[in-house]
Amino acid sequence: MLIAGNWKMNTDAAAAAQLAQDVCATVRTDAGVAVAVCPPFVHLTGVGSVLQGTPVRLGAQNMHAAGSGAYTGEVSAPMLVSVGCHYVILGHSERRQFFGEADDSVNAKVRQALSHGLTPIVCVGETLHERKADRAYAVVEKQVSVALRGVDASAPLVVAYEPVWAIGTGETATPAQAQSMHAYIRALLAKQFGKAAAADITILYGGSMKPANAADLVGQPDVDGGLIGGASLNARSFAAIVRAAQQAA
Ligand code: PGA
Repeated sequence: MLIAGNWKMNTDAAAAAQLAQDVCATVRTDAGVAVAVCPPFVHLTGVGSVLQGTPVRLGAQNMHAAGSGAYTGEVSAPMLVSVGCHYVILGHSERRQFFGEADDSVNAKVRQALSHGLTPIVCVGETLHERKADRAYAVVEKQVSVALRGVDASAPLVVAYEPVWAIGTGETATPAQAQSMHAYIRALLAKQFGKAAAADITILYGGSMKPANAADLVGQPDVDGGLIGGASLNARSFAAIVRAAQQAA
């Protein structure tokens, strides 16, 4: 299990360091559940130094597919590694929606991240329009298959199912809806990597996960944790979600 906090474009330097301290003080970690926080790029170093010597891992929210070069404003995988990142979120729906990120670009980033020893958290999920049109499974199938093209079975990989209609809206997929899509994703992974490897891939749910609904979601057989946005900005809420995951693990 993994519980990862996606802080998005929130916190200034002082607030980020404080939140990281609060997370370390509040969250009880154990072997069954890994915990990570993904602050904005400019706070990675500051938050990383707060996390030093704790079991809480550091992640970034995006990266460029190239290792270095003339890409003004961008950040590379080696840079993330050099400040102590373990994870990188790739293909988040907000990147797809507001920054035109397409599946091919997600794939290039996934391969680049893996080649530098980062564990990608690959986000997939349908919009409300797509769900209503009965296309949720087809959309997710395409996102998963393109994003993971050329990736091999031994790669450390996290997939996050985040129905776009549930992100930051207070709407959550029901545990049954989440389980159904997670089982589908697991079957897609089994087709590509084999059953045993697919069973070992962490599949997170994301979209308005909070203390009140976390236990039901992480209690589903194919839900291996959560990618938490809003509720990760409060250390107590985040810790409560981690506890729910520990009870389910
Ligand atoms: P949310 O965001 O928990 O605020 O819905 C989740 C995410 O976008 O990763």
